Amino acid sequence: MPPQIKRLALLFTLLVLSFLTAKHFLTPKSFGEFGHYRGAALGEIKAKVPDYSGQKACTECHPDMTDLKAAHEHATLSCETCHGPGRVHISSTDSLVSPKIPNTREFCSICHTKNAARKASNIKQIDPKEHYKADLCTKCHNPHSPWQEKK
Ligand code: HEC
Ligand code: HEC
Ligand code: HEC
Ligand code: HEC
Repeated sequence: MPPQIKRLALLFTLLVLSFLTAKHFLTPKSFGEFGHYRGAALGEIKAKVPDYSGQKACTECHPDMTDLKAAHEHATLSCETCHGPGRVHISSTDSLVSPKIPNTREFCSICHTKNAARKASNIKQIDPKEHYKADLCTKCHNPHSPWQEKK
C-alpha cells in the first residue's frame, strides 16, 4: 500500500473512532427505548400541566356568562381568548386569583381596528382614533354581548 494511502486510512479510522466515542457519551440514556427518540421525553411531556382550561371549565362556575356570550356576536371567542389562561384562577382555593381583565381600548382594537386586509363582512371594524375616543369600549359594549350596555 502506498504510504499516502496508509496515512489517509489511519486518519479515516481515527475520525470514525472519535465519532463513535462521542456518540457513546452524548446519546441520552433512554434514546431508542421505544423508537428513534428519547424515551424519557414521553414522561416529561406528560407531566406538563396545561395553562389553558377550556371554556367548559369556566361554564361550571360562570354559567350565566357563558349563556349570555353564546347568544351574541362574541359566541365564537373562548373566555380565555380575552381573559388569558385560567388554570391558576380555577385551581386556587383559599384566595381566588383573578384572571386578566382586559378592559382597555387597545385590547378590543387588536381585532376591531380598521384594516384593509380584513374583510368587513367577517369582522366589523372601527377606527379607534375616532370611534367614541373618550371612553372605554365597555362603557357602551358589553364584552359578553357587544350590543348591550353593561348593567
Ligand atoms: C371553581 C369555580 C370557578 C371556575 C371554574 C372559574 N371561575 Fe371565575 N370566578 C369564580 C369566583 C368565585 C369569582 C369571584 C366572584 C365573581 O366575581 O363572580 C370569579 C371571578 C372571575 C372573574 C372576575 C374577576 C374580577 O377581578 O372581578 C373573571 C374574569 C373570571 N372569574 C373568569 C373566569 C374564566 C375565564 C374561567 C374559565 C377559564 C373561570 N373564571 C372559571 C369562580 C370560578
Ligand atoms: C371579548 C373578550 C371577552 C370574552 C370572550 C369574555 N370576556 Fe369576560 N370580560 C371581558 C372584559 C373586557 C371584562 C371587563 C368588563 C368591565 O369591567 O366592564 C370582562 C369581565 C368579566 C367578569 C367580571 C364580571 C363582570 O360582569 O364584569 C367575569 C366573571 C367574566 N368576564 C367572565 C367571562 C367568562 C366566563 C367568559 C366566557 C364565557 C368571558 N368572560 C368571555 C372580556 C371578555
Ligand atoms: C379575538 C378577537 C376579538 C376581540 C379581542 C374582541 N372582539 Fe368583538 N368581535 C369579534 C368577532 C369575531 C366578532 C363577530 C364578527 C363580527 O360581527 O364582527 C365580534 C363582534 C363584535 C361586535 C358586533 C359587531 C356586529 O356584528 O354587529 C362588537 C360591537 C364588538 N365585537 C365589540 C368588541 C369590544 C368592545 C371588544 C373589547 C371588549 C371586542 N369586541 C373584542 C372578535 C373580537
Ligand atoms: C360611547 C359609546 C361607544 C363607545 C365608547 C364605543 N362604541 Fe363601538 N359603537 C357604538 C355605537 C352607538 C355603534 C353603532 C353606530 C356607530 O357605528 O357609531 C358602535 C359600533 C361599533 C362596531 C360595529 C361597527 C360596524 O361597522 O357595524 C364595533 C366593532 C365597535 N363599535 C367596537 C368598539 C370598540 C372596539 C370600542 C373601543 C375602542 C368601541 N366600540 C367604543 C358605541 C360606542
